[in-house]
Amino acid sequence: MSEDLKLNRPKVILIAAMGRNREIGSNNDLMWHLRADMQFFRETTMGHFVIMGRKNFDSIPPKYKPLQGRVNVIITRNPDFLYEECYTCSSIEESIEIAASNGEEKVFVIGGGQIYQLAMDAGLVDEMYITHVDGSFSQAEVFYPDFTEGDWEKIHLQSVKADIQNEFDFEIFHYTRKHN
Ligand SMILES: NC(=O)c1ccc[n+]([C@@H]2O[C@H](COP(=O)([O-])OP(=O)(O)OC[C@H]3O[C@@H](n4cnc5c(N)ncnc54)[C@H](OP(=O)(O)O)[C@@H]3O)[C@@H](O)[C@H]2O)c1
Repeated sequence: MSEDLKLNRPKVILIAAMGRNREIGSNNDLMWHLRADMQFFRETTMGHFVIMGRKNFDSIPPKYKPLQGRVNVIITRNPDFLYEECYTCSSIEESIEIAASNGEEKVFVIGGGQIYQLAMDAGLVDEMYITHVDGSFSQAEVFYPDFTEGDWEKIHLQSVKADIQNEFDFEIFHYTRKHN
């Protein structure tokens, strides 16, 4: 990423739902059905660029692919990977450059685990929307990156109680990186 782009890049926002132990996925799928959280995800990301790993993209049911109303950007090492109406690229930096060159002021990184980790390791994450699911999931194989709570301002957005459409209680928080 060029120095100029580093200074002028879009805001990078991670959006994820995780269990009590940072579990986010198993068997290339989610481990819960939370309708109100899906709705929050849809409303929050609508109209924006959504950056995702190839496995996450594969896990989306065909009838929802590409995610409607959003520009889908897929990260893969496979130079032959193509999907109609989607951008394909080979790094998190390149995905952000694509959004920047389209004039975007913010982009959403929507997972999965490898791609969240890439964004964190590159020091590119400005904000996070995290849904904390009130459950433990021993079958999980994929986890959200470990992060230091103290580095973030945390605002509570929503609490939802389990019901017929939401398998678990959950709470949504908005995290903003503290500037030292
Ligand atoms: N709970 C949540 O909020 C949430 C959100 C999203 C996903 N998920 C879950 O997370 C799981 C998927 O996550 P995952 O970690 O297995 O996979 P992923 O991050 O979705 O995608 C991994 C793929 O990204 C590409 N990739 C990774 N690092 C790369 C690099 N440095 N350069 C270029 N390409 C790179 C590779 O694609 P190629 O193999 O094509 O090269 C790799 O196989 C699923 O269970 C899904 O349901 C959960």
